[in-house]
Amino acid sequence: MHFTLSRRGFIASSAALSAAPMMARAKVAEAPVAAPQNPLVRQRADAQIFRHDDGHYYMTGSVPEYDRLVLRRSKTIAGLTSATEAVLWRHEKTGPLSGFIWAPELHRIDGQWIIYFAAGPSGGGEDVFRIRTYAVVCDGPDPMTGKWSLLGQFQAPWDSFNLDSTSFVHKGQRYFAWAQREPGIETNSNLYIAKLESPLKLAGKATRLTVPTLDWEIRGYKVAEAPAVLHRNGRLFMTYSASATDARYCLGMLTADEDADLLDAASWTKSPQPVFTTCRETSVFGPGHNSFTVDEQGRDILVYHGRDYEAIQGDPLFNPDRHTRVQRLYYTADGIPDFGVPVGNGPLPERFASATNARLLLAHEGPQLIAGNPLLAQTQFRQTPGRAGQQSVMLSPILMPGHYLVARKDGSVALEPDSNSADFDLRSQFVRLADARRGTIRFAAIAAPGKAIGVADGQIRLVRSRDAAARWRAD
Ligand code: AHR
Repeated sequence: MHFTLSRRGFIASSAALSAAPMMARAKVAEAPVAAPQNPLVRQRADAQIFRHDDGHYYMTGSVPEYDRLVLRRSKTIAGLTSATEAVLWRHEKTGPLSGFIWAPELHRIDGQWIIYFAAGPSGGGEDVFRIRTYAVVCDGPDPMTGKWSLLGQFQAPWDSFNLDSTSFVHKGQRYFAWAQREPGIETNSNLYIAKLESPLKLAGKATRLTVPTLDWEIRGYKVAEAPAVLHRNGRLFMTYSASATDARYCLGMLTADEDADLLDAASWTKSPQPVFTTCRETSVFGPGHNSFTVDEQGRDILVYHGRDYEAIQGDPLFNPDRHTRVQRLYYTADGIPDFGVPVGNGPLPERFASATNARLLLAHEGPQLIAGNPLLAQTQFRQTPGRAGQQSVMLSPILMPGHYLVARKDGSVALEPDSNSADFDLRSQFVRLADARRGTIRFAAIAAPGKAIGVADGQIRLVRSRDAAARWRAD
């Protein structure tokens, strides 16, 4: 199948976009939905995004100055980017809470808003790392406007460096998980879990869940910190962060059956490899200190911080550019979270499965487009505004920034680098057409009127836009 590409045809077809014949056939050109862009919030590390049953998202995290507790609220995840940030509490002028304020987490416990955080004294020297866990409590129902005051210090099993606490309820029992340096174990921190009797008091003995011993856990520092818990598919997944806070920072994961004794360390299995690491193709370095939430459609979202450059001047701990990032969290066929790679700056990518065969996704093997189901990152494509009028879009694989899907004269669809030529600007333009009734979309090729990206003989090709082969389910 061949079709002629011409600048005149291009102008006619883009004019047609405004006259809407293409859209008329397709019922509607899908208007882009306001969606989050990464970084979601610049210079907020250790981010927690909490979706409350009031329908709002609340976001807190460490600020570069490490001197205060802040909170944002928005009806949408994307809205957090520009949401007003309230300062709820500032470190004290002297004493054990006058120095660093790290990694706050907002929780609703027994009808009270509570924020757990780690704090240390000021005064310089090693004493500033005399970090302990505390909580503040809000005096009313609105955490953004209420008055926050110190509730007290967490009664940890040892008087030693402890931080990054989280709390969760499982089968009606509230648990507390945190990172701590244990006397006699030569690491910066290990992970612990215990039942919680009251916000700052454990209900019993703490269980040590993991000590950093694997090579990817002890790069720079021997660290297991920032536990975050997700309950899905009959299991509890506890992610944690490991190694130094530079590009070597990464996520590990412990898994327990939902019916297991969570206080028995043997119930938890450690993934032998990190589940989320630096990705040079997408330029995200040191991804970690994550939390989990769900988006407005109830789909799982991974929240984490990461820098968009690798080389850091000075101590990474005092580098301000750990930005808050979000991305979809997918699952493998057996229900294990598939973290993929940190997707990089810009609009969140999507996956496109053929409406005629869900096992065939738009994907690529290097520069070759394929219809298949390879690694997650090979199936994620970022849609950006096109260059042929407001309805046109371009599609780029997250692992090959600067490369885009293009229509070719021979009816194939390929990946090409952006040459900024008139020819490229013609062949790389598509219109995303939604069929709300079928729940599918099509990418009509502006350069080839009547044609759209589709699957033919197991390959990604231009097919007749009206054929089922041109329909995709976005995920
Ligand atoms: O961001 C400050 C501290 O550094 C966090 O508490 C910890 O998770 C990170 O390593």
